[in-house]
Amino acid sequence: MKTKDELAAEQATYWKGAGGTMWLGAYDRIQRGIQGFGEAVLAAANAQPDERALDIGCGTGGTTAALAAAVGAKGHVLGVDISEPLVAAARAQGLANTAFAVGDATTWPFEAQSFDLVFSRFGVMFFGDPVAAFTNIRRAMKPGGRLVFICWRTPPENPWAAVPMRAALPFLPPIERPGPEEPGQYSFGDRARVERILGQAGFTGLSIEPVDLMLNQGKDIPSVMQNIGDFGPLARAFKDVAPEQIAKAKEAIAEALKPYATGDGVKLAGACWLVRARVDQRRA
Ligand SMILES: C[S@@+](CC[C@H](N)C(=O)[O-])C[C@H]1O[C@@H](n2cnc3c(N)ncnc32)[C@H](O)[C@@H]1O
Repeated sequence: MKTKDELAAEQATYWKGAGGTMWLGAYDRIQRGIQGFGEAVLAAANAQPDERALDIGCGTGGTTAALAAAVGAKGHVLGVDISEPLVAAARAQGLANTAFAVGDATTWPFEAQSFDLVFSRFGVMFFGDPVAAFTNIRRAMKPGGRLVFICWRTPPENPWAAVPMRAALPFLPPIERPGPEEPGQYSFGDRARVERILGQAGFTGLSIEPVDLMLNQGKDIPSVMQNIGDFGPLARAFKDVAPEQIAKAKEAIAEALKPYATGDGVKLAGACWLVRARVDQRRA
């Protein structure tokens, strides 16, 4: 079994390298797909003028920019992310009243009790030691501060990812799946695990709500197929696989997507948890 440090190091290597590069390359398509989930979590965060906010795993800073606009000139937003290339893209936006830091949110020396709001869109599922990470984050929050993030539910509840993967599997070597306590895209799919982690990290007032939306993967199947396997679990599954096997897997994916093609795009269901918690007024 891998240690928490080994898991964290693996994630850091991935996001600083291949994961960051693929996220950047596929960002426009990813952003289109997850737009509805992003709007839901930003609305729930309800950032207010003058607030100090922290965007965890901010990536290229799309949500950091939205938070910065909401908190206004007298507010401030810090985006933290472990991936240099993604933070470089975030910084290139030249946002006012915003700073970015490259580092692991688990150990980053945040100023104690300084944030009204801690936010994340899909940036909190990759910690080697999530209790340590959320404890560090909680200490950075003001008493009464709020934590609001969105994360994926389980793979079977997310056909947008599961349908292509299931179609490709017969053409690929066996895939190593993360264990239930290991970081990864679906590591917060189990609601009880999220409750346990946040409880152990000292959060209160926990609310975990499902958000179910359709993800538009592209205008038609050929356009979806142009980028399929460029990012995420499929990209990892295609790594080191012979080109002819990848071609067969892609043919199977295109076939499996046919039932989801509509006049308005190729649409598959996606399922997330919208998570809210607070830091107790008396203890931070
Ligand atoms: C799925 S991406 C989401 C990016 C961004 N929030 C968005 O919605 O566009 C996950 C992000 O978490 C970052 N990340 C992973 N582990 C991290 C850690 N331990 N500390 C800070 N950021 C981390 C990755 O580098 C990546 O940018």
